[in-house]
Amino acid sequence: MTLARITVLCSGRGSNLGSLLAAERAGAFAGSVTHVISNRPGVGALAIARDYGVSTEVVDHKAFATREAFDAALCDAIDRSSPDLVVLAGFMRVLGAAAVGRYTGRLVNIHPSLLPSYPGLHTHRRVLADGATIHGCTVHFVTPEVDVGPIIAQSALTVRDDDDEASLAARVLELEHKLLPQAVQWFCAGRLAIDGPRVRFVDAPASERRAGAA
Ligand code: GRF
Repeated sequence: MTLARITVLCSGRGSNLGSLLAAERAGAFAGSVTHVISNRPGVGALAIARDYGVSTEVVDHKAFATREAFDAALCDAIDRSSPDLVVLAGFMRVLGAAAVGRYTGRLVNIHPSLLPSYPGLHTHRRVLADGATIHGCTVHFVTPEVDVGPIIAQSALTVRDDDDEASLAARVLELEHKLLPQAVQWFCAGRLAIDGPRVRFVDAPASERRAGAA
C-alpha cells in the first residue's frame, strides 16, 4: 500500500500535530507525516515532530520583507517534501492566493469553529460573547479566502452555562484531535471529491460519512 506523504504546517503548541502523529502510529490512516514546517522557531510543534522522528524545518516569516517572499520560500520548502497532502494545523499565517492555488485540492486546515460561523481569531471568546449555544470545529479544504473552502468534516458541542473561554477551548480541542485524523483518513483513502463549494464522499458507506455531534 502506498502511503500518502503528508507535510504539516504549524506555528505553535502542536497538539493537533501530536494527535495526527499518534493516529498515524496507531495505523488510523494510509499516510505518513514526512515533514513539519513552522514559521516560528522553538515552538512545541517542532519538539513533537522531533519526538516522533519526523524531519522539521523553520521558515521564519520575520526573515522576509514581503508576504510574497515568505510564501515563495514556504512553497519551496513544501515542494521539497513532495507532499500528497498539506495540513495547516495551527498555522497562523495567511497564505496568498498563489501559494494556495499551488496546492488546490490537497491543502486542508483545521479551524476552531463551526464554519462559516466565526472565521478568524478568538472564536471561543466570540461564541461566548454572542451567547451561541452550539460550537465546534471544522476541517476544510483551503481556498484563497481565509477560513472559507469546501468543508470536509465538522464536530459540534453544546456550550455549557459554566463554560469560559478556557474550558470551551479545551473541549473544542478534544474534538479537533479526533476530527483532523478522521479527515486525513478520508483524504488518504480517496474518499473526498470537491464539487464546487461542497465536499462529496466517494464510495463511502453511510456509517463512515462525517462525524456526529458530541
Ligand atoms: C487549534 O485550535 C486550531 O484549530 C487552530 O489553532 C489551534 C492550534 O493548536 N487553527 P495546536 O497548535 O494544534 O495545539
